[in-house]
Amino acid sequence: MSRKRKKARIKPGTSGLRKKVRVFLKPNYTENFVQAIFDAMPAPGPKDSVVVVGGDGRYYVKEAVQIIIKIGFANGVKKFIVGQNGIFSTPAVSNVIRKSKADGGILLTASHNPGGIDNDFGIKYNISNGGPAPESVTNAIFAASKSLSQYKIDISKIGTVNFGDHSVEVIDSIEDYFTMTKEIFDMDLIKSFIKSHPEFTLLFDGLNGVTGPYGKRIFIDELGLPANSIDQCVPLEDFGGEHPDPNLTYAHKLVSNVHSKQIDFGAASDGDGDRNMIISKDWFVNPTDSVAVIADYAKLAIPYFKKSGIKGLARSMPTSAAIDRVAHQHGVSVYEVPTGWKFFGNLMDAGKLSICGEESFGTGSDHIREKDGIWAVVAWLNIIAYVNKDSPKLIGIKDIMNTFFEKYGRNYFSRYDYEEVDSDAANRMYSDLKALCYGGLVGQSFLGDKFVIASADDFEYTDPIDHSVSKNQGLRIVFDDGSRIVVRLSGTGSSGATIRIYYEMYENRPEHLMMDTQTALKPLIDIALQITKLEEYTGRKEPTVIT
Ligand code: G6P
Ligand code: ZN
Repeated sequence: MSRKRKKARIKPGTSGLRKKVRVFLKPNYTENFVQAIFDAMPAPGPKDSVVVVGGDGRYYVKEAVQIIIKIGFANGVKKFIVGQNGIFSTPAVSNVIRKSKADGGILLTASHNPGGIDNDFGIKYNISNGGPAPESVTNAIFAASKSLSQYKIDISKIGTVNFGDHSVEVIDSIEDYFTMTKEIFDMDLIKSFIKSHPEFTLLFDGLNGVTGPYGKRIFIDELGLPANSIDQCVPLEDFGGEHPDPNLTYAHKLVSNVHSKQIDFGAASDGDGDRNMIISKDWFVNPTDSVAVIADYAKLAIPYFKKSGIKGLARSMPTSAAIDRVAHQHGVSVYEVPTGWKFFGNLMDAGKLSICGEESFGTGSDHIREKDGIWAVVAWLNIIAYVNKDSPKLIGIKDIMNTFFEKYGRNYFSRYDYEEVDSDAANRMYSDLKALCYGGLVGQSFLGDKFVIASADDFEYTDPIDHSVSKNQGLRIVFDDGSRIVVRLSGTGSSGATIRIYYEMYENRPEHLMMDTQTALKPLIDIALQITKLEEYTGRKEPTVIT
């Protein structure tokens, strides 16, 4: 028998390591990866460090917390700050890392992927600014496990337990986050709005993920909304067998409740609490519009931004340019970064960015270094309270959107996902399309000369702060009226390939502002299917998810 334990080469992806639970259960697999994290911890390394640990409550979180503490202590970690019962939303971890000046955090989540023994688990490392580790750190994560000392920590009781020079502090992860929320938003204004508009109905759906207790604390205990304003707000290890992703397809229970109960404000967050969806009985707020509206009202309505001002705005490349229009109006810079929240972190640390968002239901600000589902929901509530200040008649989400479009015009946006496509077929389609982008697409016209291709390329980003270059970030086909078709292969799927096609079209004719999105974008969608030959390559006639 070899004396050396076999080294597992486990390379994390863009959002840490995500695999089936049963993979993590293999002998030494989790241990190896956790050791890899400590090996790769930025200088001065794990010795005497403080590390925050917690997860979204999915199956295997509690077991993984125990493994991390053991291996961490063996690596010289001085103190762990752990969420009670292992519960910690992703934004709450980011907040506690920053607040307690910890050296980093380990997040146990596979985000919006289903949970339970037959589904997914994940481990992600965040650095001392509270944000996801940059590639320089994730690339360094490889290792073997060491002989482990035995500790068994009771993480159900709040308090600190000492082990010689080491300690574990179990905290109520809800309370710190709640304190942060109160510091950012005008809770009194929201409360007085709720009092003066008793007809206003809200429904927050925790999708059985981690945000349930956060939602209850804020919407019920603090704001005093009726108990039936929250649903699926007890975290379950298997998320109730559901897919905890806040979009029109997977948050189907919320969508049908909002329609059948005629709810004014419906909202949901994903398994680990960093995504959000906002919807009402008569409107679905596309995330690309959501961030633009929040940015437009921030300085007027939200105390945090009244104080700090807007230092800059940003979006990921596939996200629509609605926020760009807000930036121009407010005279601030807007940055276009590749898909992935980590790209916003450098801009925030450099004091150049206040509010940003992605089409993938991620919205947030520089209050932490993760996107933040509950933050976005409370931001919208704060804005609703602000616009209704002197209005006896309820000004709802649809009215706010209408006003916004009248001011800026509308960037119609939709994303089509083709999930679990055969990887070879997806790669072939993508590389052939890329070749087309650089050979012959420009100048082609469609529907007479209504749509003429003005440029086509593969998005490349140079970080303005550290000048690192990220290539191959998605194919962009831009028409001469500014309409766009963007094609990417998802970096977060767990089986096969996911092809994403994003559509964007600008409209400012008053009578065309409130059209159905799919109707408005139909010509562009037909053009994309023609150019990409998607059906020919993949056999797919329809997308699996439309947002
Ligand atoms: C995660 C990342 C986001 C990203 C999203 C979709 O939530 O944090 O930044 O937009 O996944 O990524 P994908 O590569 O699947 O389009
Ligand atoms: Zn998530």
